[in-house]
Amino acid sequence: MKISKNILQLLHEQIGIEANASNYYLYVSSWCKVNGYDGASSFFQNHSTEERAHMLKIIQYLNDLKIDSVIPQIQKPSQKMKSLEQACKISLDNERKVSQAIDKIINTAQKENDHRTNFFLEWFVHEQIEEEDLFESILQKFDVIGRDKLAIHEIDKILEKLSHKSS
Ligand SMILES: [Fe+2]
Ligand SMILES: [Fe+2]
Repeated sequence: MKISKNILQLLHEQIGIEANASNYYLYVSSWCKVNGYDGASSFFQNHSTEERAHMLKIIQYLNDLKIDSVIPQIQKPSQKMKSLEQACKISLDNERKVSQAIDKIINTAQKENDHRTNFFLEWFVHEQIEEEDLFESILQKFDVIGRDKLAIHEIDKILEKLSHKSS
């Protein structure tokens, strides 16, 4: 096998992490739609698709090395969403955890002199910088614009614009 068992296990875990992220964003999109945040709903739906693409990237990498990938079970997201701001806070926390998980695989790959995995994961490092920055910027909007109904409507419009950008 072209990569170690250790790295393979971490990559399989990462497939699960990306799948769960996609599933979580899909839930948030649905919650936003039902609560009248149409812009946020499209934004999170696109984000869900992006996370699925991340999962597929890892599967493709393993396939290129002629290694079977394990498709994990996904977790049911907690159904206790209370506000758009809370959804964005949880998203940022999750993205930070994803960044840590990527760092862990890179650390292991570097220790094992696994240059190809190290190189493959570089894309994910850039992506995570963007993802954290994105949710930090959105959360900042609540401080700048406010949290009353009109302010949240404005933020929903901003998310609508962002959803066109990323798609
Ligand atoms: Fe991701
Ligand atoms: Fe992400």
